[in-house]
Amino acid sequence: MQENLFPELDDCKKDIQLTIPEIKNLGLVRSEENLQTLLKLYDKIDDIDLKREVVSSIGRQKNDKIIFDFIKSHVYNCGFMDIVYQMYRTCLYKGRTNAAFKELGVELKEYFNNEVLDKMYDYFSYKQSHTGKKNRVIKYQNPILLRGNNVETLNKIDENSVQLIFTSPPYYNAKIYSNYHSYKDYLKDMFQSLKACHRVLEDGRFIIVNVSPVISKRAGREFESIRYPIHFDFHNLLTCAGFYFVDEIQWIKPESSVKNRNGGYQQTRMPLSYKPNCINESIMVYRKNAPFLLDKNIAMYDKSFACDEKFDSSSCWYIAPTANKNHPAVFPKELCRRILKYYSFRGDVVLDPFAGSGTFGEVAIEMKRTPILCEQNEFYCDLINEDNIYVQL
Ligand SMILES: C[S@@+](CC[C@H](N)C(=O)[O-])C[C@H]1O[C@@H](n2cnc3c(N)ncnc32)[C@H](O)[C@@H]1O
Repeated sequence: MQENLFPELDDCKKDIQLTIPEIKNLGLVRSEENLQTLLKLYDKIDDIDLKREVVSSIGRQKNDKIIFDFIKSHVYNCGFMDIVYQMYRTCLYKGRTNAAFKELGVELKEYFNNEVLDKMYDYFSYKQSHTGKKNRVIKYQNPILLRGNNVETLNKIDENSVQLIFTSPPYYNAKIYSNYHSYKDYLKDMFQSLKACHRVLEDGRFIIVNVSPVISKRAGREFESIRYPIHFDFHNLLTCAGFYFVDEIQWIKPESSVKNRNGGYQQTRMPLSYKPNCINESIMVYRKNAPFLLDKNIAMYDKSFACDEKFDSSSCWYIAPTANKNHPAVFPKELCRRILKYYSFRGDVVLDPFAGSGTFGEVAIEMKRTPILCEQNEFYCDLINEDNIYVQL
């Protein structure tokens, strides 16, 4: 008989001073004593992280009948979704060989109708059917320029063949190269482009979009202008197209480089007339839905692909904008450099579906990636391919 490791369990709650590793150890040794101790701990512990660990350790034990009854009687009233996730995890694993757990898992998924449980199910099912390391396949070795609307031209590119997408779409009608009839039309078109991007991007890889709010010109002093929060709407477009949110990086510019909006407030100092100078743009980082962890994408590359030691540790990147006489809204090269460094590997195929003057392609080549650029404006296309570097499809 194992010695009673936690005699204080029989006393009052406040005396229990356990650590997560201690609870983990109880789970690792499969015995009736440990299972009973863990069940008692579940009732006595209030701390949610410890309780979660207890449930995980219970799931590692072997008396399926007791574990099943425990989950069935606690899962609907445990009060914390973190605990439900652990119980569901046990159902998934034990459900491989035990029909009752499998059934309970289905019941929980239906009852809670929760996105984390859905993701757990997808990951678990994928893992059961896909084992082993995936090999890296590079489909394109030469830079490609696709002339025309990306919704059509991207059809020339194989599905799952691109490892990174970075782009800055038109900011509605802010610049001379676009003239959408309405904001609704603009969003519809953007959605079609994002769906085309989704098809060509490899599962689990990143799409990164640079956008920021714009304001329409007033039609007269008596009318208010409309400010469009484009990045908020892009979140919905991206998620509906099959990507999920990972991060938002702020590109911060020097205040002297942006339009001054302080004038009105400076004159009157009246509340409500305040308008800050917009020195930030959103860099929206999303990942293509995939039922596996990023580790699987990374595992396709060996350690020699690791970046140098210096890196940007925060979500604010201070980069001055760049002006270009041929295009009104070009990326600063430094922004492209950082995106390529953190979100792609040497040799990867990288796509800019709204390429403009082709800055991203230029930096991609410098950094030994293979760019695919889409651009519908003939003048910009000629500019991109001035040196005949691109194969045109
Ligand atoms: C914001 S600019 C990109 C500028 C670019 N980042 C650079 O560094 O030059 C957007 C570009 O997308 C192009 N564009 C807009 N809609 C397009 C579409 N459906 N297909 C291809 N290009 C498109 C526009 O002509 C414009 O040049």
